[in-house]
Amino acid sequence: MRYLTFALGKGRLAERTLELFEQIGITCEEMKEKDSRKLIFINEELRLRFFLAKGPDVPTYVEYGAADIGVAGRDTILEESRKVHEVLDLGYGKCRMCICGPKSAAGYLKRRELIRVATKYPSIAKDYFYNVKHQTVEIIKLNGSIELAPIVGLSEVICDIVETGSTLRENGLSVLEEVCPLSARMIVNPVSMRMESARIKDLIQRLRAVI
Ligand code: PRP
Repeated sequence: MRYLTFALGKGRLAERTLELFEQIGITCEEMKEKDSRKLIFINEELRLRFFLAKGPDVPTYVEYGAADIGVAGRDTILEESRKVHEVLDLGYGKCRMCICGPKSAAGYLKRRELIRVATKYPSIAKDYFYNVKHQTVEIIKLNGSIELAPIVGLSEVICDIVETGSTLRENGLSVLEEVCPLSARMIVNPVSMRMESARIKDLIQRLRAVI
């Protein structure tokens, strides 16, 4: 039997995913060793391989078939728009993609003015403003601490993830519009989906039962 390979987004998401897999009897003890620099982990008995990748790289590994299955946030899956099948909402990592800014920026959105939008997700922001709202905007790509942008005058609003809302509150910003809900999703390579359909369907079914 060939190995089924999983790409997991590093960090909290991977921890939650491994917890979930444990519930259906899939364990990978080597992966829990916190100080290990090892990149790939094997469960010989079940013929499974796991590796940790940067979140936005997970859909890339899955599209090219270097991983059969991936777990990543819906934000990165949408942003990367790779040719993969999204098969399961894992239910954790729940948050929202929102347009945020100072309350005073609400009018720019209402009047569909040409404003600047700072974001780590240029593709999601572009789709929202151009295809959903039909508003022409300038999108400015940033790599983190997006909330800074409207505070220092780089942009009028931001398109970013809101989980508890405390980053916004502590910086005097608010949610102005909601783009879409987000959570962790399981994605599958389209060829693997056909070639390993029995194993993958069984996995999805067992996960569904515990989610
Ligand atoms: C994310 C997001 C917000 C924050 C939202 O940033 O970009 O800044 O979390 O969470 P909250 O609503 O619970 O405050 P992250 O910490 O991932 O880092 P980043 O700013 O570098 O993107």
